[in-house]
Amino acid sequence: MTFDHVDYRSLDVPAAPFSQPDRIPDFPKNKVPRHVGVIMDGNGRWAKKRGLVRTDGHQAAEPVVFDIIAGAIEAGVRYLSLYTFSTENWKRTPSEVRFLMGFSRDIIHRRVSQMNAWGVRVRWSGRRPRLWKSVINELEDAMEQTKNNKVIDVVFCINYGGRAEIADAASEIAKEIASGKIKGTRVTEKMIAEHLYNPDIPDCDLVIRTSGEQRTSNFLPWEAAYSELDFVPELFPDCGRDVLWRAIDDYVHRDRRFGGAK
Ligand code: IPE
Ligand code: IPE
Ligand code: MG
Repeated sequence: MTFDHVDYRSLDVPAAPFSQPDRIPDFPKNKVPRHVGVIMDGNGRWAKKRGLVRTDGHQAAEPVVFDIIAGAIEAGVRYLSLYTFSTENWKRTPSEVRFLMGFSRDIIHRRVSQMNAWGVRVRWSGRRPRLWKSVINELEDAMEQTKNNKVIDVVFCINYGGRAEIADAASEIAKEIASGKIKGTRVTEKMIAEHLYNPDIPDCDLVIRTSGEQRTSNFLPWEAAYSELDFVPELFPDCGRDVLWRAIDDYVHRDRRFGGAK
């Protein structure tokens, strides 16, 4: 879905380009997933199909990201985790990595006032070492500016790896055991959950991956252990809030058993 009449790049957009109320699907309120994760994949293939360079695909993804945030707000999603740059993405060419770092930094900078106007609380999940300092600075600035917003938490997963997150939690626990802050040596699931990057954020209910790939690529292995999965064929730059809504519509009909039995 595209909204050609909306200038997404404008810094002065006061409110979300929200849909007409009658267009927003009427999901049963108590069934909307509280926390949705999106693996935004397929930018490179989208560009290649058009004879463009991979970075053009990343650029084409920007309006889609904000359309999905607007759609998540409309649907009543409370937490939205966006897989933006993985700990494995450093394997790409130096020029693509440079582009992705600079582009992430610039998007956060350019869009923070828009997100603030929408009631978005900006969050970050990821590892500090190796991540560009300028990206961390923009994230920290955006998190500070939006810390009192309560419409939706949008978690940018940048230099995020699920195994790294669990290893980092384990290191913190080891330190606290060594210093005596934690008594004994028994590590519980609760302790690990409390030492993740954002322990206040509830488990992920629904993970959507675009571009047809059916894997989770190290995204939220702990938080999404019981998540519903939806693999959609569209390349990310071809997506929009309609893809999110379709996934939610499917999700509300699923039977989540969590190991129990009826
Ligand atoms: C997703 O698109 C964006 C990032 C991983 C940063 P890709 O760049 O992975 O695009 P494909 O999968 O090569 O098409
Ligand atoms: C996952 O996509 C990472 C992000 C979307 C940021 P990749 O394109 O890096 O994943 P693989 O390599 O296909 O598993
Ligand atoms: Mg990919």
